[in-house]
Amino acid sequence: GKTRLRPRVAVVLGSGLGDFADGLQGAVRIPYAKIPYFPRSSVVGHAGRLVVGRSGDVPVAAMQGRVHFYEGYSAREVVFPVRVLARMGVRAIVFTNAAGGIHLDYGQGALVVLRDHINMQGTNPLIGANDERFGPRFPDMSQAYSESFRAIASDEAKALAIEMHEGVYAAVPGPSYETPAEIGYLRAIGVDLVGMSTVPEVTVARHGGMRVLGISGISNKANLDGDTLTTHEEVLKAGKQIVPKLTTLVRGVLAGLV
Ligand code: HPA
Repeated sequence: GKTRLRPRVAVVLGSGLGDFADGLQGAVRIPYAKIPYFPRSSVVGHAGRLVVGRSGDVPVAAMQGRVHFYEGYSAREVVFPVRVLARMGVRAIVFTNAAGGIHLDYGQGALVVLRDHINMQGTNPLIGANDERFGPRFPDMSQAYSESFRAIASDEAKALAIEMHEGVYAAVPGPSYETPAEIGYLRAIGVDLVGMSTVPEVTVARHGGMRVLGISGISNKANLDGDTLTTHEEVLKAGKQIVPKLTTLVRGVLAGLV
């Protein structure tokens, strides 16, 4: 009721990556606190509002900030905003996040399109009664990240001369970063990058039949030797380097996702 725009695409902006939403035209900004039942982030770097506006010709709903399992929200609470977006008519959704690089080729500041994920959070947002209006009891996850969306993103990255990798994302509960032994384990099981978000939301987006694009910015290289420290400040600082590239890329792909 606060806007006449009816976006079919949404973008969820992770730690320190909120700037994209500030560039939307004709936008309304709705604090999460004003949306009934919306969870509110307690984390520095997450603004906490829904911005509905146009990116070029494309109406977009952008979430500036998200909540995480480690904040104490249940997996079901974490995904509530994705349900709201689905009910608003959103059919395609871009999840962004800051992640730790496990793959040795990923430098700090690199962009990675998600090819697949491993849920290591020990929970699933679909646990509990299933509402068939949202989706099936046992949803397929064989194509969690749309192949055509991934192709659109890599083509756009090429056209913009932005270096981009493709990889498998593992979601851990957090909030502590990984030990060197955990990083060695993640690498051994085929993980390319690690973070504390996105997987519950992607699970629910797929449950509801939305198509998904996932893009991570590598905020830090995982620290296998135990010699370097990982801090939230480092993650936010790397975000500043990632934001311009990520914003340009997301702007470029949106028209292809509708
Ligand atoms: N590990 C987990 N989550 C993260 C990291 C990390 O190294 N960097 C940013 N989010």
